[in-house]
Amino acid sequence: MMLTRTIVLAAAACAAAAAGAGLSAQGPRTVWDGVFTATQAERGWKSYVDQCSTCHGAEMKAGAGAPSLAGPEFQFSWNKKSVGELFDYAQNYMPPGQAGTLSSQQYADIVASVLRGNGFPASDGSELPAARTDLDTIAILAAKP
Ligand code: HEC
Repeated sequence: MMLTRTIVLAAAACAAAAAGAGLSAQGPRTVWDGVFTATQAERGWKSYVDQCSTCHGAEMKAGAGAPSLAGPEFQFSWNKKSVGELFDYAQNYMPPGQAGTLSSQQYADIVASVLRGNGFPASDGSELPAARTDLDTIAILAAKP
């Protein structure tokens, strides 16, 4: 009886260790991993200029009573949050009074351009997905890990 119990516990511990190892080998994705493409950020920039720049400024450096979307202050307030939360905020609150008037794709593209504006790297890989659940797996980290 005691023996069986010990074996079961040991097996469970092994499974947990294996799962943990898998996670750390791959690591969680962050904005430093090249999570958008240059083309996407450029598309997003055009929408940003049309829809957001009147308040957030021609260079994302604040204006018209709206906070900066690029630079240390922005990075401080979003540090350790997910790209999903940023996407969600933009989609649900921006532009004020007209939230959700853009397509999910447009919001994702704008988020890509905001990431670019903060100096996070583009890559030749895949674009930033336009779904909150996928974006929740990508962490915003102000400092390179
Ligand atoms: C009419 C002016 C206006 C427009 C247009 C506008 N915003 Fe904003 N935005 C604001 C204001 C004001 C705040 C601050 C809201 C608050 O603190 O409650 C804000 C906050 C934000 C924040 C949070 C910033 C932070 O550091 O927490 C994000 C992200 C954002 N806006 C994105 C966008 C995007 C993307 C667009 C275009 C689709 C947009 N905004 C268009 C006025 C605007």
